[in-house]
Amino acid sequence: MQEKLKEIEKAALESLAVVHDSAALEAWRVANLGRSSPLMTVFAELGKLPKEQKPVVGQAANRVKVALESALEEKSKEVKQTALEKSLAEEKLDVTLPGREKHIGRLHPSTQQLRRVLSILAEMGFQVYTSREVETDEINFQLLNFPPHHPARDMQDTFFIEAEGRGDNPILMRTHTSPGQIRAMREFAAMNPQNPPPIRIALPGMCFRYEQITARSEVQFNQVEGLAVGKNITFADLKGTIADFVRRMFGDHARLRFRASYFPFTEPSAEVDVECFVCGGAGCAVCKNSGWLEILGCGMVHPVVLENGGYNPKVYTGYAWGMGPERQLMLRNKVHDIRYFWGNDVRFLEQF
Ligand code: DAH
Repeated sequence: MQEKLKEIEKAALESLAVVHDSAALEAWRVANLGRSSPLMTVFAELGKLPKEQKPVVGQAANRVKVALESALEEKSKEVKQTALEKSLAEEKLDVTLPGREKHIGRLHPSTQQLRRVLSILAEMGFQVYTSREVETDEINFQLLNFPPHHPARDMQDTFFIEAEGRGDNPILMRTHTSPGQIRAMREFAAMNPQNPPPIRIALPGMCFRYEQITARSEVQFNQVEGLAVGKNITFADLKGTIADFVRRMFGDHARLRFRASYFPFTEPSAEVDVECFVCGGAGCAVCKNSGWLEILGCGMVHPVVLENGGYNPKVYTGYAWGMGPERQLMLRNKVHDIRYFWGNDVRFLEQF
């Protein structure tokens, strides 16, 4: 019997040596320490032994049982350890790797500036009116008091889309937002032709000019047109509105000046300059040593234009302006090249 127990122990320990995972270990436990294992059979048959052999065999069997149990416990620790090491090795996390950057989208700087302008104007009571980008010569020029061969057209070189068979009225890309004045006035006047309602609107949008692209001029850019039409509107209203806008946009200390100018669709006409942000008025390269930067053109709506819009110039007056949001952003943020706006270089766009 003693011999048999030794064999049981030896066979069990040998088979344990090749166990490397928890499933095999459990199978080993059932086979070697389970109820019908050879060792347990020895215990079951203890009763059949002669009296004097019982304690000897019993003790020996117990020793084998304790030995197998402790071997099982050892092995079980080992199996757990290798499982942990394996998972650590496989799922290794390299905390020194650089993180993956998340790129957050943003509005284009022109859109941001357009929204700034429109929200200031909204506070001042101007509603947004959007007009079309493709226009006729008649609405872009003629009804704004530029006759077909007027020299003032030279200021606005034009992309024509269709000229064939259209005589003096080719289709073109609008060169400014001012044609929206005609469309808006006609639409408002149509509501009540005898007594058209007053108008106070902002007309934002893209304009196109067939120009040489340089640091200072692009073939496309935004404008925000302003238009107010009503009874008893004066140049003083225009001045007050522009001055208020400039303070809201550029700060309370921004100084501005009105300078006489010429546009075919306003009379009188003016241009507005603000004190140079870069040098504070002392004179520098940005303001070409004048101390001033031009931000917009404006004036009292020409009687002919009012008439063309359906507003009787004997009863109504109005003012208008046209400003460039990209230009304002260039001045505010010292952007020295207008080509950055449509260059699509994220290094530029990310700064806004
Ligand atoms: N349309 C002019 C331009 O693009 C700007 C302008 C000047 C608009 C005077 C106006 C105005 O409404 O009154 O150069």
